[in-house]
Amino acid sequence: MCGIVGYIGFRDAFPILIKGLKRLEYRGYDSAGIALNNGNIKVYKCKGKVSDLESFIGNDDISGHVGMGHTRWATHGVPNDINAHPHKSQNGHFTLIHNGIIENYAELRKKLSNRGYSFKSETDSEVLANLIEYIYLKGNVTPEIAIRLALTKVEGAYGLVIMANKQPDTLFAARKGSPLVIGVGEDEYFLASDATPIVEYTKSVIYLNDNDVAIIKKDELVLKNIKNDTLTPKVQKLDLDIGQIDKNGFDHFMIKEIYEQPKAISDTFRGRVSATHDITLGGLYDILPKLENARRILIIGCGTSWHAGMVGEYLIEELARIPVEVEYASEFRYRKPVIYKDDIVIAISQSGETADTLAAIKMAKEAGTTVLGICNVVGSSIPRETDGGVYTHAGPEIGVASTKAFTAQVTVLTMIAILLGKRRGSIDNYLYKELIDGLISLPNKIEEVLKHNNVIKEISSHIKDAPNCLYLGRGYLFPVALEGALKLKEISYIHAEGYPAAEMKHGPIALIDEKMPVVVIATKDSSYEKIVSNIQEVKARKGVVLAIVTQGDTVIKNMADYVIEIPEIPEQLAALLTVIPLQLLSYHIAIMRGCNVDQPRNLAKSVTVE
Ligand code: M6R
Repeated sequence: MCGIVGYIGFRDAFPILIKGLKRLEYRGYDSAGIALNNGNIKVYKCKGKVSDLESFIGNDDISGHVGMGHTRWATHGVPNDINAHPHKSQNGHFTLIHNGIIENYAELRKKLSNRGYSFKSETDSEVLANLIEYIYLKGNVTPEIAIRLALTKVEGAYGLVIMANKQPDTLFAARKGSPLVIGVGEDEYFLASDATPIVEYTKSVIYLNDNDVAIIKKDELVLKNIKNDTLTPKVQKLDLDIGQIDKNGFDHFMIKEIYEQPKAISDTFRGRVSATHDITLGGLYDILPKLENARRILIIGCGTSWHAGMVGEYLIEELARIPVEVEYASEFRYRKPVIYKDDIVIAISQSGETADTLAAIKMAKEAGTTVLGICNVVGSSIPRETDGGVYTHAGPEIGVASTKAFTAQVTVLTMIAILLGKRRGSIDNYLYKELIDGLISLPNKIEEVLKHNNVIKEISSHIKDAPNCLYLGRGYLFPVALEGALKLKEISYIHAEGYPAAEMKHGPIALIDEKMPVVVIATKDSSYEKIVSNIQEVKARKGVVLAIVTQGDTVIKNMADYVIEIPEIPEQLAALLTVIPLQLLSYHIAIMRGCNVDQPRNLAKSVTVE
């Protein structure tokens, strides 16, 4: 999604903006631009990468201590130089960058056209720039008033940074629905859509809330809402280190994040699972009685987070015996689901900013339900919108393909399920202890799986040219099949599908021939015999089988074309281990196919628009 960076202070703005835009590249974008104010606002923008923008600027005079930059992920209008941000208003009084969507832009555009405005771009953002200018000129008001009044007239979402040419010592920022963080320095302020461009300069940050408007000079910040009430900014400490957002010697963020999983999982359960086998989840403390007596748990999320939710469904139903339904947030928000007041909704999101998940949360809250969040990004919108929850503490995930976020989310769901099972008396002490010991053993077991990287790379070379790929799993391993297929398609562009292994004979079996790789997750669990039969069915039709098996398995080894062994683990925890080779497989295949694994085409890291 679009990225925003801004600076006002004593340093040269340009290097801060360019570096910031590079830090935001992971979010996904198709064009980039900056505006610098040196008494006179200069705008540079073009389609392509931040490096293209640098070449485009060349040796121009880029001095100035006030500036803003933007990476655009097209919504209204194709990716091109004109639609790239920043956008200037018709008479040049305002220049802005915008994340989000102005939903009533067509109507506003028409009204402004009738009043003599013409538009250079196809964007909703230029409409907003002109609306602010129209109010400014017509009402003869200050830039701040014009901005606030204009924002009362727009419907939709925005994270905005605005420059007014008559007020060169000020940046204006506003938020509704699209995140914006202000970094607070000594005589300087930084702005960004997430903290990654800010962290190397300051750890003091202010997260803007919906309807906030900040009026920022280098040595002063005034915070208001759009109704002009003055607010007290809440300065928080950023829990992020610069080392966490660098590749640290890895070729890509994705592979770095795959290798970080032992630590990410330890960080997720650190302080929450004790050596005496107690589970403490502080963010759920007040809600636990309600949660354990819930009529039903509804889990919502998108993409990988939805897959984690599915593992959560299996865990909570088995261990805590509470009915669970898992739903795509995008479906939940638009159909008319039955929501009871004594349901509990759990929203899962790495970024904490996914627009569909946020909208589904809003809907659940309107129905009077308690909503919990499982999120990775501290201070993001979902944790602030929910009644409680658990941070995954997996550290920043920069690769667009979610890896450590998934295992951290499943770790949290596992802790919740075990805790609820204990409180409801639905798991016996033996299983309780086995699962906690299993969780504690996970980081070491993941390290063991990572040692198979070269074997997995070798296997990848046999699969990389396949046009299609099928992933099969049963029980806890069915969501892993879905996740494996998603990883492959999003970064290598190979069409892949995940299926419950038993469903294969109801359709997908027709696809199988000697050209079809079938990845079967077939570790020793209660469905083992059944999945062995499924592998036989595939082999009988000449399919190429790659099986993920438990160490020491000889039966499947004799049937499959390739096997990857993983250490023994209770089946309730197997998703956390079996997903690792699938992440590595898609990584290597994508690299072999020459794909950009960290920034796959058309994809954004966090989807903050519908
Ligand atoms: O930030 P979220 O977890 O809410 O994001 C949800 C999905 O957009 C995300 O998981 C997406 O599917 C990833 N690209 C998967 O790797």
